[in-house]
Parts: sequence; structure tokens; C-alpha cells
Amino acid sequence: MCRYTEWLSRIGRTIPFFLLTLSLITPPAVQSQTKHNGQKPRSQASESDPWWKHAVIYEIYPRSFQDSNGEGIGDLNGIVQRLDYLQWLGIDAIWISPIYPSPQVDFGYDISDYENVDPQYGSLADFDRLVTAAKQRGIRVIMDMVMNHTSDKHPWFIESASSRTNSKRGWYIWHDGKPGGVPPNNPPNNWTSNFGHSAWQYDKTTGQYYYHRFYIQQPDLNWRNSAVEKAVFGTVRFWLDRGVAGFRLDAIPTLFEDPKLTDASELPGINAYGDRNQSSTLYENLPEVHGVMRRLRSMVDKYSGQRVLIGETYLPNVQELDKWYGGAKHDELNLPMDLQVGFINKLDATLFRQRISDAETKINGNQPLFVFDNHDNVRSWNRYGDGVNDEAIARILATILLTTRSTAMMYYGEELGMTTTQPTRKEDVKDPVGITGWPQDKGRDGERTPMQWDDTKNAGFSTAQTTWLPVAADYVTKNVKTERDNPESLLNWHRKLIAMRRTNPTLREGETIMLDTTNPSVLSYVRKGGTGHPSILVVMNFTGNTEIVSFDGQKDLIPGKASTLLASGISLAHQTSLNGIALPAYAVWIASLE
Ligand code: BGC
Repeated sequence: MCRYTEWLSRIGRTIPFFLLTLSLITPPAVQSQTKHNGQKPRSQASESDPWWKHAVIYEIYPRSFQDSNGEGIGDLNGIVQRLDYLQWLGIDAIWISPIYPSPQVDFGYDISDYENVDPQYGSLADFDRLVTAAKQRGIRVIMDMVMNHTSDKHPWFIESASSRTNSKRGWYIWHDGKPGGVPPNNPPNNWTSNFGHSAWQYDKTTGQYYYHRFYIQQPDLNWRNSAVEKAVFGTVRFWLDRGVAGFRLDAIPTLFEDPKLTDASELPGINAYGDRNQSSTLYENLPEVHGVMRRLRSMVDKYSGQRVLIGETYLPNVQELDKWYGGAKHDELNLPMDLQVGFINKLDATLFRQRISDAETKINGNQPLFVFDNHDNVRSWNRYGDGVNDEAIARILATILLTTRSTAMMYYGEELGMTTTQPTRKEDVKDPVGITGWPQDKGRDGERTPMQWDDTKNAGFSTAQTTWLPVAADYVTKNVKTERDNPESLLNWHRKLIAMRRTNPTLREGETIMLDTTNPSVLSYVRKGGTGHPSILVVMNFTGNTEIVSFDGQKDLIPGKASTLLASGISLAHQTSLNGIALPAYAVWIASLE
């Protein structure tokens, strides 16, 4: 499913009425791994087993993470101040959403200079300090790379727009309007932008239209022009040379369009912007993009240090996802995001079982990357929660993310259970998506509110009078400080899972085998242990009822006895039998199989 269709069908914006407090059990095995307030070291990465295969990657939306200079907007020095927290949590890498100079129409996704840092976030020297300080804590830094488009204020576009004969004219997609009509009402075709209305903007100076998949201020680069590839790859090198660990490639399936500019076929219904829905097959996921990915991979692989290429890949199915790895050739992206799992958007055990198995078996042995949250979508707390059992449900999502074999990607605040907090008045909306889509689509501000560090002013995010987006009201109870002090908090649940995943060889390597495969209410799987390492059983009750499950029939996979590693709910703390296990509502049970 296309992510933008996903946006339009956002669900679960309701704010939970109250939280269910669960009694959580941390058995001694896990306590001992985490006691001295520091995570255990990771096992060493090797050539054939790169670090990113086992990583937890943490997305930072820099405007909202930590403000160091009292302007109400987060910055690079703010991230440095919070690295100790990230180390304590146990993550391996941060992906920072764009920090390049930008008019900030799309909050950094409109880049006007690929080789610098926007002054509101700091300087290149601040960036270098961040990379060094992160490295000292065993944390890598991943950049966001926007290859599909630039800002209309980028010098490349300014030149390109200056005349039809400019040498950079062919760097963007310029076209005459359809004959017969009167500009600006005769665009070359009927394509609509992901952010609403025509994807073509008329330019009076040169009398042609330019194409923009996103905002008018984000003209698309023309990837059929080899000079564009050369220039953009040059900017990629600039950051690789500076020591970044890799890139998250923004909106990467949108690089190419049908060169004939054929009209898109219309689909039933109207979207939040009032446009007719249409098929995106002529401007999204075109096969030509794979050649660029192969060349990019081959360039990046020449750098030492196992740099990683991650793709923002909202795709319709696992077969399409596999193509982004280069299938059996493994020569494209290392980690295209599997958004099929995290964006199921309902607790459906059958669908989760199917999609996790697909990622295990249908991507040619490539490494899956699961994601539940990011800066573009309503937070998982709201998408999956029912308003009553939200915290218990959040524990289930964290368990899937961190106990399957996939690389895990988290979004700041997910570990706290931060919620999407929508603006209530159009005049408060910052994201232009929300301005165009109001009130059907209130935009993405709600999932970008400042990180909740403590219960002081602005949740410890900033000393400013006002912050760029308001802090969510629940910060008083839901914040790092409070949750860190509570061993049973959602934050500590994440930390324990990360610690187990980091240190337990079975959770690192073991194959995932689904159990009880016709059960519509309980998702269970085994991570299979290698020689000398016990297998691990993960069981999650997806319903609000007590469910009884038994695994003692599967002698090949499940030996006689279990011992609890982590469980939500007192009753599972001392569960050893694999027969007739009573799982309370939304319970999670993780056990070692002896
Ligand atoms: C980013 C969005 C951005 C869009 C255009 C995306 O997919 O995640 O935040 O608005 O690309 O760059």
C-alpha cells in the first residue's frame, strides 16, 4: 500500500482515556544484564555479519528532540546532550531527519544545500562533534538523504528555472502544458501531488511547467539526466567522507516517472485534499530506480565500516520489497523498510504471523527491517491502541519489533508511549499537509511534538517561552525521568528487550518459527537456538480476554520446560509448564526453553 494512501486512511487518532497499569515481572536473568545502569557490550560485527543486521536504529526528528539554545527548536548540540540517555537505552544508531540548510517548507525535506547544516540546527563543526561523541558511546549516525527533489531555493533549481536554455534546465522535469488550455490551467497531465492538487507548477518566466511529487517548493530532479546522478552521488560522498554510517533514502520509489507523461487512471473516491484518487503506477516504483540503487550500493560499499543504505519503501507486497534488496543478488539497499508489518494498524494475529513469516522466508535471505513509528504517521500508540489497554498493546508492539529477527527502527518517544497530539485549530498547524488537508487530514504535527524528558517546563525539551510545537499534555506523567525510575514502565520494557536482544545469541541469530499457526488470538513463535543456546519462546495475547495455549505437542521445537525471561503480568512470572498456559488480556510471555 502506498504510504500516502496510508496517510489518508489514518486511523486511531483518539486519545486514550486512561492507561492500564500492568504489573511487570523482570526475572533475575534480565535484571543482571541491566543492573549497573549501562547496557552490556554488543557482540562484535564481522564482514559477513554487519552491525546493522542486529541494530536498533532510533529516528530523531531534530526539531523536536532537544533544544540547547532556548529557541524552542531542537538542534545538534541538544542531541549531544542526550546521547547518554540513548546509550543507556541501548540503541546502536541514530537516524537524524534532514538537518541541511532548507527554507523548512517541509521541515528539512526541501534541501537548498546538500553539503552544510542549517544554522538553526548548528554547524558542520557541531555535526562532527556529534559524530565523535556518539562514536564514543558506540552509537553510529545515519543521515537522511533526499534524492527525489530539492528545494526550489537550491541553486540547481534557480539556474534551471532561469531560462529554457540554461545548462541545468534538464536537471528538473520541465514540460509544456497541454495544448489548447490557458496556463496555469493546462498542466501536461492529470498527475496529482502526494501533498494535494496538480503535481505541475506553471512558471511564468519560461512559460513551462515543472513537476513536483511533493510540495510546489520541492521540484523533482530528473533522474534520466546522468548529470543529476553524478551531482547527487557527490553529495552522498561528502557525508560518507565525514564519517556517517549510512543513509535513510527519502521517498526513494518516487525517483522516476513515465517519460511519456501518460495520464494516470482514476480510482474511486476523493482524497483529503479534494482530489480524485488515482493510480500511482506511472510515477512510483518504476523499474529504472533499481539501476540507480545498484550504482549507489556499489559506490557506498567501497567505503570501509559497513555503511548502510536504508530505504523509505512503502510497497504493496513482499515481492516488491525483495526487489529493493536486489533479490538474490543482494546488490541494492541493505535495509529497505518493511512497512507491511508495522502498519497493519490492527492487532490481527493472523496478519502479523503471515507478514513476519513473509519477511523471514520470501526475501531471499536478506535482512528485514521493521518499523512501527515515524515522523509521517500517527503514532503506533494511537493506531493500535483501544483507549483502554494502550500501554499493554504498546508492549506487544515493542516485543514484535525487538524479538523478531529483523533490524529494529524506533522513533523518538515510542519507548515512552508518546501519543499523537493533533492541533485543535487550523491556525496552529505547522505542517502544510495539515493546512491543505484540514480538517480531514490535520497533518503530521501531532507525531512530531517535543520529546518528553521530565515533568518541568516544556518537558525539559527547551527553556524557550514557546516551543515550535506544543508539548503534549501527558508529559507530566509520561516522560523519561518518571519512566526511568519505574522498573515496570514501558521505557524499561523497551530497555530490557533491547538488552536481551543485544546479548542473547538466539535472539541475535535464531530462525523465527511460527507456532500454533491457526490461532486467531495469540501470536507465538520460537527463535531457534543454535548449539549450546536454548531456544526462546515468545507468546503474545492479542485480545482483551484470557486465552489458553499449549505448546507441548511440538516436541521437536519445544522441549519440556520453560523459564521466564520477561513477562507482563504476575501470573506468567513463574510459568514453567508449556501446557494449558493462561495468558491474561494482552499479556506477553518470553521464555527460555531448556
Ligand atoms: C518524508 C516526509 C516528506 C516527504 C517529502 C517523505 O517520505 O518522510 O516527511 O514530507 O518524503 O520529502
